[in-house]
Amino acid sequence: MNYSEKTFDIGPLEGISAKSIEEHLALYAGYVKNFNAISALMPEYAGDLEKNGLALAELIRRRSFEFGGMRLHELYFEQFEGGAQAQSESSALSAALAKDYKAAEHVVPYLKAVATTRGPGWAILYWDPEAKQFLAGFSGEQHQGHFVTLPIILALDVWEHTYILDYGAGGRGKYIDAFFKNLNWSVLEKRFADIQK
Ligand SMILES: [Fe+2]
Repeated sequence: MNYSEKTFDIGPLEGISAKSIEEHLALYAGYVKNFNAISALMPEYAGDLEKNGLALAELIRRRSFEFGGMRLHELYFEQFEGGAQAQSESSALSAALAKDYKAAEHVVPYLKAVATTRGPGWAILYWDPEAKQFLAGFSGEQHQGHFVTLPIILALDVWEHTYILDYGAGGRGKYIDAFFKNLNWSVLEKRFADIQK
């Protein structure tokens, strides 16, 4: 089955230019396109494993890389829709965050710290429904280092392409600050509420 490129309703952001978002959305579109293109090649390669086994294995590995890029960018862009919105004090997410981090807003420095890890990747806040706790982590590129099986509450892209246009190669910190300024916490609150159902 082919995946379709999603569209996002993103208004003007503070500290992240429209041009940067436009270029970033084009990169996202590439992940969807490549996932579909690799998927289309696989049946033909699988028809002759003796000849194509190694190539097929590489395609399968590449496909999960493209899938990770596709899904994580969808989570990322969605977080800007509706404009910046602060944490709601009465939300279940805030209550759970306060339990783990003493106060809901104290999760932000943890995420900022992990987001400044060098190398391309994603700072991610996961929720473990079994232990009923959050886990903050860093996924190298987009397919390594995940807390496997755990749902994602927040996905912060820190590949260089997210900030180089607006801030240059040394601008990761400024971009991370801008990300949190523009974050719509109600999107995260909905994700958390949906997991509890
Ligand atoms: Fe990206």
